[in-house]
Amino acid sequence: MTLPIIIDCDPGVDDAVMLMMALASDRLDVRAITTVAGNVPLRLTSRNARMMCQLMGRGDVPVYAGCPRPILRTPVTAEDFHGKSGIAGLDPFEPDAPLASGHAVTFLVDTLKAASPGECTLVVTGPMTNIAAALVLDPSIAQGISRLVLMAGADSEGGNITPFSEFNVYADPHAAEIVFASGIPATVMSLDVTHTVRAELPRIERLKQVKTEKAAIMVRLLEAGNVMEGRWKEGRKSPMHDPSTVAFLLAPHLFEAKATTVSVATEDGERFGQTRLATAPGGPHDWVTSADADGFFDLIADLMART
Ligand code: RIB
Ligand code: CA
Repeated sequence: MTLPIIIDCDPGVDDAVMLMMALASDRLDVRAITTVAGNVPLRLTSRNARMMCQLMGRGDVPVYAGCPRPILRTPVTAEDFHGKSGIAGLDPFEPDAPLASGHAVTFLVDTLKAASPGECTLVVTGPMTNIAAALVLDPSIAQGISRLVLMAGADSEGGNITPFSEFNVYADPHAAEIVFASGIPATVMSLDVTHTVRAELPRIERLKQVKTEKAAIMVRLLEAGNVMEGRWKEGRKSPMHDPSTVAFLLAPHLFEAKATTVSVATEDGERFGQTRLATAPGGPHDWVTSADADGFFDLIADLMART
């Protein structure tokens, strides 16, 4: 029994690693990939998603381009962590498969309206613009979603793009507020947990022992991510932000979480884009608090060993 998922992302080096994991797994039914402007402009996130499908031999997975800018705020990008191409470590190429026709938001609305109740899990690893737009366009699509698995936010860890805000939320806080306020159950992989799972050298060396082409591609991505992370803090290794979402789907036992209700600061000021957890316990959002980092990389090695 495979799990039907739709992945909304902004590749992005760590998005690319996440896509390799999802596309390698025989336990996930990747119905489609939708792309959004984020780390780099939409044209590049869409090209990069198609590149990863081709590199993984998954030209069967349709890639739909979505929103080219956030709902309200001025656009921001993150080339410093992903390169101008958005896919640092790999040589960009024009993929054989074209973009799927139609806007990603239209695809999401049509697909989730027609889905059986709770049929789809949505993995969201970029700004939540597409998901928010789909929910505004037709709130009834929530019926087709069993769970959102989000790379978003920060609480105890503090932000990575401002002292209070994590990039995906900062890049479109209004979209994030719409998604969190929808009440759709979500598992939230924030910086609180992703900063505890990093591409340390022994873990990369372990991956180098997996003598497959996929493993070699992933090593190139991880090493490129480490070079860019190291520019910000000497010796610090790249966190496994987006890969944490797929790792949760494939190995939930690696993680611990607490139930809460997340909201987003959208007022101007130093806390713009900050995620806030309700003081009262309980709520539809499982805020992941810890991960087994070595188990995480065991999972990645197993996935990349698949030929
Ligand atoms: O803050 C980390 C997030 O921002 C990741 O999704 C990374 O790809 C960037 O988009
Ligand atoms: Ca991302």
